[in-house]
Amino acid sequence: TGLVTLDPGFVNTAACKSDITYIDGDAGILRYRGYPIEELAAKSNFIEVSYLLIYGELPTQAQYDDFADRIQRHTLLHEDLKQFFDGFPRDAHPMPVLSSAVSALSTFYQDSLDPFDQNQVELSTVRLLAKLPTIAAYAYKKSVGQPFLYPDNSLGLVENFLRMTFGFPAEPYEVDPALTRALDLLFILHADHEQNCSTSTVRMVGSSEANLFASISAGINALFGPLHGGANSAVLEMLEGIHANGGDVDSFVERVKNKEPGVKLMGFGHRVYKNYDPRAAIIKKTADEVLGKLGANDPLLEIALKLEEKALADDYFVERKLYPNVDFYTGLIYKAMGFPTKYFTVLFALGRLPGWIAHWREMLEDPARKISRPRQVYTGAAERSYRSIGER
Ligand code: CMC
Repeated sequence: TGLVTLDPGFVNTAACKSDITYIDGDAGILRYRGYPIEELAAKSNFIEVSYLLIYGELPTQAQYDDFADRIQRHTLLHEDLKQFFDGFPRDAHPMPVLSSAVSALSTFYQDSLDPFDQNQVELSTVRLLAKLPTIAAYAYKKSVGQPFLYPDNSLGLVENFLRMTFGFPAEPYEVDPALTRALDLLFILHADHEQNCSTSTVRMVGSSEANLFASISAGINALFGPLHGGANSAVLEMLEGIHANGGDVDSFVERVKNKEPGVKLMGFGHRVYKNYDPRAAIIKKTADEVLGKLGANDPLLEIALKLEEKALADDYFVERKLYPNVDFYTGLIYKAMGFPTKYFTVLFALGRLPGWIAHWREMLEDPARKISRPRQVYTGAAERSYRSIGER
């Protein structure tokens, strides 16, 4: 009721209050629960950051051990859930496979349907954190026609995921600690980013009091799009395209500036950051290290560095305050680790999961909570009379 304000894309409209993540887009600042992202990236790990986001404080050792232990004990999927993977086409994109499997969790855990049952919310939280890496690994194994590997619960979450993805049943899998650490770091950097498209989706679906699995499944689908999480795959496709055309960065940038349909500098620009994305700065360093360590002399890295240099010095990008975002360099790291391009957004989903959960829980605990129900400005026909089909 009253005055309705039109704000496409919610550019200026806050939909909630939140204690979770602080961003100052002009200064390039990102903090989870008050802790600078740079400190968490250097000193913390993904399990600890997940705890911090969801419960609001860094855990004590006992809280950490209990949380990690509970997650470890829930990594197995129900045997019947495995059959879902058989039903999908082998060349299916892994993102809808991921969201379908998460949606299906509601059918296996029917005790999860009441979002106000605190014990069940806690159980769903742990189940989801534990099972999403297993689901993601199964989606990969399906796509390459290899047998699924059950989780090995003597391993940590990221190691376990890498083993289930790249290991074989008959062989011991040597988990490279540097690789594990790099992926853990990337998960930390993706863990939350306040009211982005997928998180807002999770909150919106959850505001109807749908359960956690249904809400997160919707968030995964929102992340799929190339303007959001899908950008990490799109960046690699863009770099490969430039490479195939002889590495001509200048003419690609011209095409972007001329706004050729469908040509954008993917991995650049952000709704909130009008300065260098602090996550991109950390990732750029990591890309150098990981690629160096894996001996991957990727010509695409050189193209990416040239693109960045050129764009940062060009008026088009300067005037619009377009800087590299989190997705610009991640694809190169994922590629060096052995992940196929269309799988990159699944890795984003694994990282973003604790943030989605934290927001869903915060939203339900908010006494000012209301079902999300935006208004509109109607621009259609005025009242008119129905004419039967023969009269039209
Ligand atoms: N390449 C070329 N021009 C761009 C780009 C880009 N990547 N991003 C924005 N612009 C231009 C845009 O054309 C517009 O120009 P003009 O004022 O002349 O019409 C101006 O900059 C403002 O852009 P906008 O589209 O109004 O900004 P937005 O806040 O609605 O969109 C964005 C933000 C991230 C969707 C957009 O920058 C984009 O499409 N970037 C490429 C995709 C991408 O990298 N997405 C990942 C985002 S970060 C992580 C995540 O959320 O997953």
